[in-house]
Amino acid sequence: MSSSDSRLLLYAKQEANAAVALDAKGQYREAMNKYFRAAEILIEFTKYNKNPIMRKRCEATIQEYLERAKQIKMKLSGPKARHSGTAAASGKAEDDKLATDEGMYSEEQQEIINMISGTILTESPNVRWNDIAGLENVKQNLREAIVLPIIRPELFIGARKPWSGILLFGPPGCGKTLLAKAAATECKATFFSVSSADLLSKWLGESEKLISALFRVAKIKAPSLIFIDEIDSIATKRGTGSESGGERRVKTQLLSEIQGVKSTAEKVLLTLGATNRPWDIDNAMLSRFQKKVYVPLPDLEARAAIFRIHTAGVNMALTDDDFIELAVRSEGYSGRDISNVCREVIMIPIRELDMKGLLEDSSKEIKVRDLVLEDFLNTMKKVKPMTTKKDLEEYEKWAEEFGEQ
Ligand SMILES: Nc1ncnc2c1ncn2[C@@H]1O[C@H](COP(=O)(O)OP(=O)(O)OP(=O)(O)O)[C@@H](O)[C@H]1O
Ligand SMILES: [Mg+2]
Repeated sequence: MSSSDSRLLLYAKQEANAAVALDAKGQYREAMNKYFRAAEILIEFTKYNKNPIMRKRCEATIQEYLERAKQIKMKLSGPKARHSGTAAASGKAEDDKLATDEGMYSEEQQEIINMISGTILTESPNVRWNDIAGLENVKQNLREAIVLPIIRPELFIGARKPWSGILLFGPPGCGKTLLAKAAATECKATFFSVSSADLLSKWLGESEKLISALFRVAKIKAPSLIFIDEIDSIATKRGTGSESGGERRVKTQLLSEIQGVKSTAEKVLLTLGATNRPWDIDNAMLSRFQKKVYVPLPDLEARAAIFRIHTAGVNMALTDDDFIELAVRSEGYSGRDISNVCREVIMIPIRELDMKGLLEDSSKEIKVRDLVLEDFLNTMKKVKPMTTKKDLEEYEKWAEEFGEQ
């Protein structure tokens, strides 16, 4: 199991423990949100974990969390609970930004707002443009399409109105999600980040309600940026794959909401989608995103910078030339591939010490050796890029037909 896998498991466990504790204390709404969160994290985990026994075990646990969350949900929406629902919600206002305007909304709206805040990330992501190497054109593009209309809405009037839908597409691990976060941080809009897993959360059985609530709250909270990650999984072409009735309804709802988005100088509301499978997206959905921005694999300079970013603060004996050599040798690697290489590499000196049994006695001071070029080159023989030449051709073909850089 990779370290990011085990981190996910750890997060899920932490959330679940918190849920159980809150549940026992009678803080049901918070407990429900934590159960949902724990389930979501485990769902994410099972997406990437190939071990069938592990997956099975996780699926059972997910069901358990969802079951309890559903019971709580029913309890909370009962007539008596509904009455005290707002009072309970106001107690957690400090960790729930959306709940702070209570009193402004009807009980039902408040219920929906609370529902959104449990399943959709709204905190500021705190990623800066500088944390993202390369992609200068893309950053400029997003600045013009997202940041400027939000910070200077008065300039985007008449024919110069902002694009309401922007789609980022490109190979996995090249910074689409990072870019969305940086754009949100930079424009200080209310940021709604939903993954398609959230929207397809069949256990809620209320995805359509969730989507309409999301857009409604975004309108109230404008200027807002709604980020829908992995939009391909929700907007597959009609008739392909095994789309269920529920999924179709969610898609239709999303289409009509995006269609209805209209920014005015007073209220800027933008939808940003991201996908690494643009060709799977339904044409109706595709047409809602008037601006399609290609996020390609990092170029030579960007790769060198990504190696630096992901080894920052670790002692090493690499020269500038060594970084250029790494960049040359890593052609075809995505940012995520390089980050995976770096994660392996920075553990090498620790592993060596551990294998010599030198880490047992924590009172002993220990010197960790510098990383050297060889560490990287050896690791790159094992950690290969995820994107194939054939994939790349497909992206480029699609970009030529639909996108801009
Ligand atoms: N240009 C970059 N600069 C710095 N780090 C990067 C860059 N591109 C990718 N990374 C690293 O790779 C990780 C994955 O990037 P990100 O999640 O933005 O990719 P993505 O394009 O959204 O991928 P996916 O299509 O799989 O969702 C980042 O968290 C970061 O560590
Ligand atoms: Mg992503």
